Amino acid sequence: MNSENWHPDTVAVHAGREDFAALGVHAAPIDLSTTNPLPDVERGGDSYETLATGGRPTDDGSMVYARLWNPTVARFEAALALLEGAEAAVAFASGMAATTAAILAHTQAVGRPHIVAVRPLYGGTDHLLASGLLGNEVTFCSEAEVAGSLRPDTGLVVLETPANPTLELVDIAAVVADSAGVPVLVDNTFATPVLQRPLALGAAMSLHSGTKYLGGHGDAMAGVIACSEETAEALRRVRAITGALLHPLGAYLMHRGLATLPVRMRAQQQTAEKLAAWLDTHPAVSRMHYPGLHGDPRGLLTRQLSGGGAMIAVELRGGYAAASAVAGAVRLFTHAVSLGGVDSLIQHPAALTHRPVAAQARPSAALLRLSVGLEDIDDLRADLDAALSAVVASNPETREMRLPV
Ligand SMILES: Cc1ncc(COP(=O)(O)O)c(C=O)c1O
Repeated sequence: MNSENWHPDTVAVHAGREDFAALGVHAAPIDLSTTNPLPDVERGGDSYETLATGGRPTDDGSMVYARLWNPTVARFEAALALLEGAEAAVAFASGMAATTAAILAHTQAVGRPHIVAVRPLYGGTDHLLASGLLGNEVTFCSEAEVAGSLRPDTGLVVLETPANPTLELVDIAAVVADSAGVPVLVDNTFATPVLQRPLALGAAMSLHSGTKYLGGHGDAMAGVIACSEETAEALRRVRAITGALLHPLGAYLMHRGLATLPVRMRAQQQTAEKLAAWLDTHPAVSRMHYPGLHGDPRGLLTRQLSGGGAMIAVELRGGYAAASAVAGAVRLFTHAVSLGGVDSLIQHPAALTHRPVAAQARPSAALLRLSVGLEDIDDLRADLDAALSAVVASNPETREMRLPV
């Protein structure tokens, strides 16, 4: 698609629709075929060989089998790649399946099993890395420790920015420079390509839990990685071997979600910014986490990220007791895991998403994470104010949180 001069909002609406006119359709078809006719034995075999090793279908070949290629998935991938300014994208059944494929393709598949991981990370990513389940050795470190953590057998550097759940910012270009050529994977789930394009800063891969903002409605799971075509081949090979393809129904919902992504992101961010500033002055709050709320000392909000996004983390003066009481007292915010949808969610990371993280790296028990949706700001503020004020008034007894050690 000749989209070089189009603004991201236009790309979001039109990308991945190139074949519609020829098909005579206006909305994306959902291709549910699990198998595809083969032209003849020889060309069928050639197609299998090409696709199973990560290539793309050829004009005279076949798509062979849905685990190897699916047109509905490919449309979503093409659209996301354009939004990220990438050559290609590869979609998976979930964000964790995408992370797993990125790890396998860059470590075990190439004989470099060591990973450097910048904390904080989403709890599930931290858990996957720390578990050793994929046979990796992992050095967890801070941004400043990346260069010193590299080894000759380091195959991948992993980071997340803004990071889940405390919204810490990591300087992508600085980590890329410190990584001395080792590919850097950036989890771009919180920012989305609307606010941040990691490949332009030198990252090798930009990963999303599409389950969040890309889909945007809390009704489809997906993962996707934007990258070079060469990297995409390596990822598609792993995907074909391990069977982690995104289902076409999920791909359809992801592709549809992209059309409204820029508009949703800006509207949700506008509300989040105002809520964060208001919460910062609330007597029940001891500490706020929101990019740019207390300035931008490293200039990352100009160099890397074009807005703070729609996630907020808030620490309460009353500690764990207050945090758990507020999570139970809100009415408009749903107390639930996940984020990035049109409706607002609240959750307690230390008890939930970050429960598997090693105790010393786990977020504070006083911390709540808010995903701000598209509701009216006055209603969201009133809901939070009622819950926070009730908690302050009731002065809940201090109690410790029960957690794995
Ligand atoms: C930042 C981030 N990355 C990755 C994931 C994993 O994605 P999924 O739940 O789609 O497997 C999540 C899930 O919450 C996340 O928040």
